[in-house]
Amino acid sequence: MPKAIFLLPDSRQVEIDVPVGTSLMRAAADHGIEAIVGDCGGNLSCSTCHVFVDTPFVDRVPSPSATEDQMLDYTAVERQPNSRLSCQLVMTEELDGLVVRVADRQV
Ligand code: FES
Repeated sequence: MPKAIFLLPDSRQVEIDVPVGTSLMRAAADHGIEAIVGDCGGNLSCSTCHVFVDTPFVDRVPSPSATEDQMLDYTAVERQPNSRLSCQLVMTEELDGLVVRVADRQV
């Protein structure tokens, strides 16, 4: 099963097995990663699942939809070029080893 590595605001690094087809937000919630809030449950209406995709993976994740791009303007921590909403990052075999840094604040 592919893995994702979360770099948390408290400097911990957490590696999680993420089933293919599962969003990083859902995987984080299932493993008690509270730094990703995910208030809306993945409906693209809260922007509380903000992560920064690590450089080697930026070009490997699919581009954000127009709606995700709009919602990235409402994150608590200012968006960066590698900002994504983790509810929209869906694990694939090709993304095994994906590294994301979780934003310091979600609200
Ligand atoms: S969980 Fe609400 S936008 Fe991602």
